Amino acid sequence: MTQDENKDLVTLVDGASGQRFELPLIPGTVGPKVIDIRSLYGLTGYFTYDPGYTSTGSCESKITYIDGDNGILLHRGYPIDQLAEHSDYLEVCYLLLRGELPDAKQKAKFEGDIRNHTMVHEQINSFYRGFRRDAHPMAVMCGVVGALSAFYHDSLDIADPHQRMVASHRMIAKMPTIAAWAYKYSRGEPFIYPRNSLSFAENFLHMMFATPCEEYKVNPVLARAMERILILHADHEQNASTSTVRMAGSSGANPFACIAAGIASLWGPAHGGANEAVLQMLTQIGSKERIPEFIARAKDKNDPFRLMGFGHRVYKNYDPRAKVMQRTCHEVLDELGVRDEPLLELAMELERIALEDPYFVDKKLYPNVDFYSGIIFKAMGIPVSMFTVLFAVARTVGWVAQWNEMIGDPHQKIGRPRQLYTGAAHRDFVPLHARG
Ligand code: CMC
Repeated sequence: MTQDENKDLVTLVDGASGQRFELPLIPGTVGPKVIDIRSLYGLTGYFTYDPGYTSTGSCESKITYIDGDNGILLHRGYPIDQLAEHSDYLEVCYLLLRGELPDAKQKAKFEGDIRNHTMVHEQINSFYRGFRRDAHPMAVMCGVVGALSAFYHDSLDIADPHQRMVASHRMIAKMPTIAAWAYKYSRGEPFIYPRNSLSFAENFLHMMFATPCEEYKVNPVLARAMERILILHADHEQNASTSTVRMAGSSGANPFACIAAGIASLWGPAHGGANEAVLQMLTQIGSKERIPEFIARAKDKNDPFRLMGFGHRVYKNYDPRAKVMQRTCHEVLDELGVRDEPLLELAMELERIALEDPYFVDKKLYPNVDFYSGIIFKAMGIPVSMFTVLFAVARTVGWVAQWNEMIGDPHQKIGRPRQLYTGAAHRDFVPLHARG
């Protein structure tokens, strides 16, 4: 394939026939250009083959930009560390959904819109009772969020921008309630209803840890840390769960069903389930002395073990979210008076060794956001099984923003990839008596 110096084109030469095909190059605002292959099959009779979409852009988007080589993450142009430092979660939600930071009036109105929707239909309570008490809360999330489409019929028309926005507000507002109730159910404690005088993060912590018997005061340092964690997880371009939401939505499925699909995809240990896997791994390692044994296992091609919380499909440099998370982690541990947290010491040592080890250095495997978030959650008293649920709460705004963008995109089509077929070619059916 060659690129014409003067034109925004690449030329593809078919080695067999010698035929040349010109394909347009499309520039983005920043980042590499993309080759527009929409006409490829029509022109050449060939499909492309790209398992895991490592070289494939699936959509045009104006929401989030990642430069993985330089460790940069921008939401609507704003660097993630500035947002984590100076903004709050609902402001970031507004930014992701609407494209600009709100002014004071817009911010107040948006916060009111979200507050209006924090409760869930009272009949949703009974869904929880259908689950075993020891159900994984992500299983509960998949079920209850999927069920929302059976309750909010007035926001299912995806062709109506107003209904789409109401569904988006509902999802952002209700997710903390649904998540906190999944936790309460697992403990056999009464559900705590949302308190709209509190901030988004405070309200979530309150619904998680308050009981009807006594006053619960939310610790402001922990609330601020939670706010930051929510911001850091709010969106991340076309990752597996977001692509799942877009793919589900591309058929015209309703928004609640699409977000339930995103939650299912997030659950996997290679994606959102990694924060839970990090804690399990640190517990399994147990002591600093055993780190070399696990590093050796991670490097062994014949051992499926991987260092959880290390590596990323896009970041081949330090994950910018992990930097903020590391700082937040220390703030939380200081506030809680956790001086010698063995798991944190273990994590620091693991990070130090992995960052010096040629295997990890050469493959550019840096700690990712999940490496620290698990330790923070643990210190806050959040059980390990809830870690990925918190990721889902935070990522909901990213999912709904990307889903809205997709529905409004005039080039949007149902997602329908092709394949490289390597199965049997045509053969005639053999009756049972004639087989074998
Ligand atoms: N430990 C040991 N080796 C690793 C690791 C790891 N954590 N991650 C990648 N590698 C090796 C891998 O074996 C491969 O080696 P080789 O080239 O010799 O075959 C090479 O690095 C490239 O790995 P890959 O699997 O081809 O890379 P990928 O882009 O498909 O996978 C990943 C990215 C995040 C799934 C992977 O790095 C991983 O499994 N990490 C651990 C799980 C984790 O922390 N996930 C959270 C991701 S961040 C939060 C989110 O977005 O959800």
